[in-house]
Amino acid sequence: MSRNYLIVGGSKGIGLAITKQLLSENQEVIVLSRSNDTLPDHPNLKHITFDILEDEVDALELPEELHGLVYCPGSINLKPFRALKPEAFLVDFEINVLGAVKVLRKCQKALSKSGNSSVVLFSTVAVGQGMPYHTSVATSKGAIEGLGKSLAAEWAPKVRVNILAPSLTDTPLAEKLLSTDDKKAASNNRHPLKRFGQPEDLAAMACLLLSEKGSWISGQVIGIDGGMSTLRPM
Ligand SMILES: NC(=O)c1ccc[n+]([C@@H]2O[C@H](COP(=O)([O-])OP(=O)(O)OC[C@H]3O[C@@H](n4cnc5c(N)ncnc54)[C@H](OP(=O)(O)O)[C@@H]3O)[C@@H](O)[C@H]2O)c1
Repeated sequence: MSRNYLIVGGSKGIGLAITKQLLSENQEVIVLSRSNDTLPDHPNLKHITFDILEDEVDALELPEELHGLVYCPGSINLKPFRALKPEAFLVDFEINVLGAVKVLRKCQKALSKSGNSSVVLFSTVAVGQGMPYHTSVATSKGAIEGLGKSLAAEWAPKVRVNILAPSLTDTPLAEKLLSTDDKKAASNNRHPLKRFGQPEDLAAMACLLLSEKGSWISGQVIGIDGGMSTLRPM
């Protein structure tokens, strides 16, 4: 029997890879995003044009029952701390954290109703491991890890909540960081597994967590990062 999934930011990057994998498993998918030109034509897919920073979440018409929710919108605003005004931290917080909070509040009832649902949120490798120029994004993503773990406790056992922490992954968000062959080679080399990430690397774990196969996993921050957070090459 197919299940209902809401993917906020399912039109590009990691969210698009998750959407495609869920559709290939014959699940029902609703995507919220500002654009839809990259989405496949599929009978199980519904797109709602929506800007999480501008539009009213309460006005959204969503199914009464949801089996899974993924929140993908995020930022990579890398600058030295001295160049980051407090307002820049707020901008990152709005998209990474408050956007997720709004959607989670909206979906709580529908996620509980299914009795066995799963939420996937996104952090970054730069929370567990300090990296220069990451103060703003790491502040917001640290909040996502706290939010996700707290909700996992509050919503157990009906709703599982997990957080993926990627390292650099080839998506529109990371375009500038992978814009030349030199940058790509340097990034491959920085990872103990000798390559930067592909959206499908993240989608594989997200879809496992969204499925019955993940039914005993909740409250985890899972590094999908080519070994970046835990391995030190010889
Ligand atoms: N890529 C990396 O290297 C990397 C590394 C660490 C962590 N992460 C995290 O992983 C998550 C996914 O990243 P990604 O690289 O796949 O991002 P991405 O390529 O920017 O895709 C983000 C998705 O969110 C949607 N979106 C963005 N702003 C939105 C808004 N205001 N309202 C509604 N939808 C919006 C985009 O669609 P539209 O533009 O059509 O609205 C798109 O579908 C993010 O939270 C990011 O911080 C990524």
